[in-house]
Amino acid sequence: MQEIVVRLRYPVRFTHGILDARNLTLRNAVEARARVVVVVDGGLVEAQPSIPPDVVAYCRAHGDRLHLVSTPLVVPGGEAIKNDRRPVDAIRAAIDLHRIDRHAYVVAIGGGAVLDAVGYAAATAHRGVRLIRVPSTVLSQSDSAVGVKNGVNHFGKKNFVGTFAAPHAVLNDLDLLLTLSDRDWRSGISEAIKVALIRDAGFFAWIEQHADALLHRSLNAMARLVHRSAELHLGHIATSGDPFELGSARPLDFGHWAAHKLEAMTSHELRHGEAVAIGLAQDCAYAHLAGDLAQADLWRVIGVLEAVGLPIWHEAMLAAGRGGRPAVLDGLEEFREHLGGRLTITLIDRVGSAFEVHELDERLVLAASALLRRHTEQGALTG
Ligand SMILES: NC(=O)c1ccc[n+]([C@@H]2O[C@H](COP(=O)([O-])OP(=O)(O)OC[C@H]3O[C@@H](n4cnc5c(N)ncnc54)[C@H](O)[C@@H]3O)[C@@H](O)[C@H]2O)c1
Ligand SMILES: [Zn+2]
Repeated sequence: MQEIVVRLRYPVRFTHGILDARNLTLRNAVEARARVVVVVDGGLVEAQPSIPPDVVAYCRAHGDRLHLVSTPLVVPGGEAIKNDRRPVDAIRAAIDLHRIDRHAYVVAIGGGAVLDAVGYAAATAHRGVRLIRVPSTVLSQSDSAVGVKNGVNHFGKKNFVGTFAAPHAVLNDLDLLLTLSDRDWRSGISEAIKVALIRDAGFFAWIEQHADALLHRSLNAMARLVHRSAELHLGHIATSGDPFELGSARPLDFGHWAAHKLEAMTSHELRHGEAVAIGLAQDCAYAHLAGDLAQADLWRVIGVLEAVGLPIWHEAMLAAGRGGRPAVLDGLEEFREHLGGRLTITLIDRVGSAFEVHELDERLVLAASALLRRHTEQGALTG
């Protein structure tokens, strides 16, 4: 038996003004003078049109290190990039055309969807060229960009095609978040709430105390949220003993079985972060009805989600599927298949403490959804 040990090391840095020539974060992420192709999220460019010219100017100022091989490639932003093969092909074509080899770099600047698609293209070209991620949304800075996964959607399923591949570096520029829509600003907060719920009761209490500041777009509060969430996500990947998710347990996917299904059922009208908020409320309501989570804790979870402006229920939870059975229930089997092995669902028995179950009682799943529906509708009626 031969054992092969692979060590992964990559920096996750936090900065402001990453494309200011005086900021050396990006320059220092590249080891020696190298060819660089830069791919930018089209939604980000719409909000911040100076980014492509700033990239060109930055690389010119640091021309002794960064050899920018072409003007930045602008790709569609949001889930659209993961639902279409052409952008991934265009990125691979740029890697080929500009002779980006395994010692050259792809720099991806954008939201979680663009980083997932560029990451997939980079990981599969030449079996993996170096990727520097510059996440530009709350969700990607606090969760997806610091991890080791990429992927695109196929057969109507989230992330059906993708790889595990560590980035070369992750550079979080908090200033990029300033132009996010309110919806995207808030939706990333749910992944921080998720990781707080399973790992860190103190962080959860901090989010409760700063919910109003977060809702009203305090960049200071958001900087702390992003930093702690990224740290907890990264800590899990580094210390769980299963960075490539070979086992069936997936605590970071707390709330995600319903979330993934709801995203597909709403044709991605729901943002990933919004769907995760609903999934968290759903699984906490379930844990409460199953007798595992105190009512006071359930109200804290619902309270904090609502306080930062996130939804806790969606009418797609009622949509009928095969044989009139609620379609969302199929999400359980799809989740099991996506993860592989035995169905393993993470629940919490108090804030900050997770446990696992291997089946959910479908009647309780529906009762939990009905509870959240009542709460949502009463909330709407009483304003
Ligand atoms: N790989 C992982 O481990 C992992 C983990 C969690 C989520 N994800 C994936 O991440 C995706 C969601 O990412 P997201 O929440 O970042 O949303 P997103 O990437 O869909 O971006 C949301 C919108 O914001 C725009 N945008 C990006 N940055 C902007 C900025 N600074 N200013 C203005 N607009 C900006 C985008 O163009 C898009 O329209 C989903 O596809 C999800 O599956 C992946
Ligand atoms: Zn997620």
